[in-house]
Amino acid sequence: MDVISAFLWILCVVGTSAGSMSATEDDYPVNKHDDPQDRFDYSLGPYGPDNWGRLRSDWHLCKDGLNQSPMVMEPNMMILDPDMGPLRAVYKTANATIVNVGRSVQVWWPGAGNLVIGNVTYYIKDIDFHTPSEHTLGLFNERFPLEMHMVHRTRNREKVAVIAILFNFGDEDRFLAQFFDRLPPLSAKGQMFPLGELSPRYLTVPLGQHYGRYYGSETHPPCNEDILWTIVHVEGHTISMQQLVKLKMVLESDNARPLQRGNGRKYHFL
Ligand SMILES: *[C@@H]1O[C@H](CO)[C@@H](O)[C@H](O)[C@H]1NC(C)=O
Ligand SMILES: *[C@@H]1O[C@H](CO)[C@@H](O)[C@H](O)[C@H]1NC(C)=O
Repeated sequence: MDVISAFLWILCVVGTSAGSMSATEDDYPVNKHDDPQDRFDYSLGPYGPDNWGRLRSDWHLCKDGLNQSPMVMEPNMMILDPDMGPLRAVYKTANATIVNVGRSVQVWWPGAGNLVIGNVTYYIKDIDFHTPSEHTLGLFNERFPLEMHMVHRTRNREKVAVIAILFNFGDEDRFLAQFFDRLPPLSAKGQMFPLGELSPRYLTVPLGQHYGRYYGSETHPPCNEDILWTIVHVEGHTISMQQLVKLKMVLESDNARPLQRGNGRKYHFL
């Protein structure tokens, strides 16, 4: 057991005995980012997206999967679907932890709320960032400066739903401003830092009346499928250039996976 898992294990024991924390070991990242077995990147080289599916047999979906993300957007796959109704996501203040994993920054925010789709409740686990955006919008598949992924899971951990928020340049985002001055440097890769309480006050997701939905995959190895994606394209989600620079300065590289074929999938939007 390495230092971080030991630390998390202690956290869990304390949390359980205090009865105040429902997080378990599995709610936090396993510190294996420097394991050569897990190596991949966003370059055009041997570890880049074109080769992910060949690096390991259990990553084969990255090349063989028919429901991969980010899905390219084409006019014939768009379906206006008023039945989807408003997005049912509710968040509350909760303590968060941040870790720079080199290819992204992850904010672990268990206990901060949930997302209801159909009759299924998904609980938020973590948030991570991609620049430029992985998903695109419009006929020209335009990429945005930043995409934020809010990853949610059902209690039994069987189903995953991700809300992706696309940001344009403009005013500073006040939700991100809570911690963008404390992004861990690359030199602290793999180390977890407490962020204290993170408030959803300026998170405009619950107001989202305009979003799209489709079935896809993780956008990085192992590229597991059956992930329910919700793409939020509310006007007015902006970050400042200064905020984006802060993120880019701590990342190893840009981290957007190339667009993946639709293979007959539909994109339902409202
Ligand atoms: C965050 O952690 C502190 C210290 O453990 C605790 O006092 C506080 O209640 C926590 N906040 C929330 C919203 O759980
Ligand atoms: C939700 O559950 C209710 C009652 O169990 C059922 O009637 C309804 O069809 C379900 N809706 C969906 C979208 O699964």
